[in-house]
Amino acid sequence: MKVIKTIKEVRKIVNVLKKEGKTIGFVPTMGALHQGHFSLIAAAKEKCDYAVISIFVNPTQFDQADDFRRYPRNLEKDLKLARQAGVDLIFTPDVSELYPEEQLSWVRVRKMSDGLCGRSRTGHFQGVATVVMKLFNIVQPDIALFGQKDAQQAQIIKKMVRDLNTDIKIDILPIVREEDGLAISSRNSYLNSRERKAALILYSSLKEASSLIKSGEKSTDTIIRKIRYLIKKEPLAKIDYIEIVDPESLAPVKKIKKEVLITLAVWIGKARLIDNLKARGEN
Ligand code: PAJ
Repeated sequence: MKVIKTIKEVRKIVNVLKKEGKTIGFVPTMGALHQGHFSLIAAAKEKCDYAVISIFVNPTQFDQADDFRRYPRNLEKDLKLARQAGVDLIFTPDVSELYPEEQLSWVRVRKMSDGLCGRSRTGHFQGVATVVMKLFNIVQPDIALFGQKDAQQAQIIKKMVRDLNTDIKIDILPIVREEDGLAISSRNSYLNSRERKAALILYSSLKEASSLIKSGEKSTDTIIRKIRYLIKKEPLAKIDYIEIVDPESLAPVKKIKKEVLITLAVWIGKARLIDNLKARGEN
């Protein structure tokens, strides 16, 4: 496994791979690797000849300097785990390598970046889209893999490559969960044992919303009201948002006619957790 810190070196290797006709699968990450990341890596290996991951805690997508500083980092452990997972190349640049001078060019995917997580995290998706486009231009993958865990991010990236004619296939893989249903996330490490139990309210309320939809409830207002009530009963939980949207455009849905995405963000102690579930009615 190659561990590379400079853009120049990545380009050199990518050029050789392209000349050999090898396909590249790419998984961008911020490290603190877990099962969610490994499912993406396994798919990259299965679909392509060469698996590249990036580990880069991207400062431009954090709206609070504090959140950026305390984001979990453990490169030594990540390198070991990535090697075990069969990664071929890890790109782990310093901030000064990706942002050597004042950045004046930004990728902004309008509308889709404004709602849901974009409402409480100003500028977040502009930072994400920009760094992902930079990484795409450096790694030049055939396929890039993202998790449904960050559904809004994945749809924004899909729209970005369509709008900008980027020749990369975007694959979105299902959410990997702990046995009890909690969506795996690097931020789960912020939870103490009481909070860890309280965090189960995210998935259980999504499942409740899904069963309401399956049993014929069409009004998203009614469903959201019921879920809000359920989460409010958990004293350690503080709701950021609960919404029911179109799974691709992310536009809010009023009356359920086809498949929808139930999506929420909830603070549990110091951790802001997100989760989502697709659902459709019986008819
Ligand atoms: P990070 O949070 O490290 O996530 C990297 C990828 O892993 C994302 O595509 C995310 O959706 C996926 N992922 C995380 N938890 C998952 C889970 N439980 N199941 C399935 N997939 C999961 O997302 C980012 O980094 C950054 O915003 C990035 C795209 C790297 C840009 O900086």
